[in-house]
Amino acid sequence: MKKKLAFIFALAFALFIGWGALTPTTAQAATDDSLSQVQKKGKLVMGTSPDYPPYEFQATVHGKSKIVGMDVAVGQKIAKDLGVKLVVKSMSFDSLLVALQTGKVDMVISGMNPTPARKKNVDFTHLYYQGGYSIVVNKSEKGLYKDKDSFKGKTIGAQTGSTMFNETKKQTTGTKVKGMTSVSDLILALQSHKIDGVAMEKPSAQAYVANNKQLAMIPSHFDLSSSDTSAAVAFKKGSTSLVNAANKSVDQIRKQNLVNKKYLPAAGKHLKTNTVNTSMWHYWKAFLTGVKYTLIITVCSVFFGFILGVILSLARMAHGGVLKTGLRWLATAYVEFIRGTPMMVQVMFVYFGLGLIVNLPALTSGIIAISLNSGAYIAEYIRGGINSVDEGQTEAARSLGLTSASTLRYVVLPQALKNIWPSLGNEFITLIKDSSIVSIIGVSELIFQSNIVRSDTYRGVAPIAVIMVLYFIMTFTASRILNYFERRMQHD
Ligand code: ARG
Repeated sequence: MKKKLAFIFALAFALFIGWGALTPTTAQAATDDSLSQVQKKGKLVMGTSPDYPPYEFQATVHGKSKIVGMDVAVGQKIAKDLGVKLVVKSMSFDSLLVALQTGKVDMVISGMNPTPARKKNVDFTHLYYQGGYSIVVNKSEKGLYKDKDSFKGKTIGAQTGSTMFNETKKQTTGTKVKGMTSVSDLILALQSHKIDGVAMEKPSAQAYVANNKQLAMIPSHFDLSSSDTSAAVAFKKGSTSLVNAANKSVDQIRKQNLVNKKYLPAAGKHLKTNTVNTSMWHYWKAFLTGVKYTLIITVCSVFFGFILGVILSLARMAHGGVLKTGLRWLATAYVEFIRGTPMMVQVMFVYFGLGLIVNLPALTSGIIAISLNSGAYIAEYIRGGINSVDEGQTEAARSLGLTSASTLRYVVLPQALKNIWPSLGNEFITLIKDSSIVSIIGVSELIFQSNIVRSDTYRGVAPIAVIMVLYFIMTFTASRILNYFERRMQHD
């Protein structure tokens, strides 16, 4: 019976969230103040997926890893013309438009084509550059392929959410299409022969081939009549004033041929200097930053998770009275719900979903999501720990005249803690590893940094090996320290 009620509560919880998501967001504000908003902020935040040279890519500039490329130059021009500062935010291509709609970024410049489907959800400026499609293959196999039609029984890779992904699916027969979130990963997959070709825009194909002697490119011969291969800048739907202002910059770019004359040559220079040093030692700072953020997220999340866990476990053990019963159900439903949904989904929900109400930075969102998640688990550890203290202890304390609160505080909790501690330690170690999930919302933790190093150096395995070792050092050290305290506790 009790289980059933908790189940119903958890279901209600789920339905409530689902219902919120299904109801369409309220119509755009009648007055469009997007331009003045940006000017008031003094900055224009651009979202981009830096895996697409020469459009956007990571490069080491004066010893620092930076996002550069012609799209960044376009963004800079728009920002400058508006009299504000440009801030570039990196994220995966398939989450760019969501970030735009939820206000995480003010505009998206990422070699993005204004397709009819996208136009339904966001507004685009005029076009600033025309690309065209190509397919990148391994040089050793170049003779096998002529164009998109030579891949029968083979696999072509394309970035998820990109136009190439859809067009390759539509315009090939007997060819498998494999989607991956980043183009640099697709290239690695190509080189390790997991796939046979990568569809992308011609300028990008040229850049990858110029940077990597093992690659070659072939014409795609895609029919592009129905899909625009020109790139434009995207803004949130309804921000007409901002789009109009940006259009003035874009028109100038077109008229003065700035992309071909200035932006592309500048990007080319970065590409050349980019692969000078691909030693992992060279990137120790990036890895160190990753370790720092991983530890910050873990420590904060266990701390807040513990507080939440205490509250939840007390609520779950509350008895008597309507209020207490309600509290107990609510806490049970919460724990069930959190444990029944993937942490990855929770992270995205807090970042994008909660972001509609309050605009939280990625790091804060990550810590909130992981604390909320961890709280549910810790609550169960605490409840288990408390339940393991013999009932007689409570009875003895109560008969000595201690209130139930003091009994808990002075008699039960100190003993329970001894049982809770090892599980808490495990939770800490688990979170060191699982906090890596927040890389999907762009928090600069270890996985995120390794992705940067990967796209910076075009090396696939080395950065993964490095972070594997780093994660192990962190978890191993943590478990030694925790064991030490555990042993000390056993003494008393
Ligand atoms: N032009 C293609 C599209 O609009 C792909 C763009 C990919 N851009 C990137 N930065 N990875 O879907």
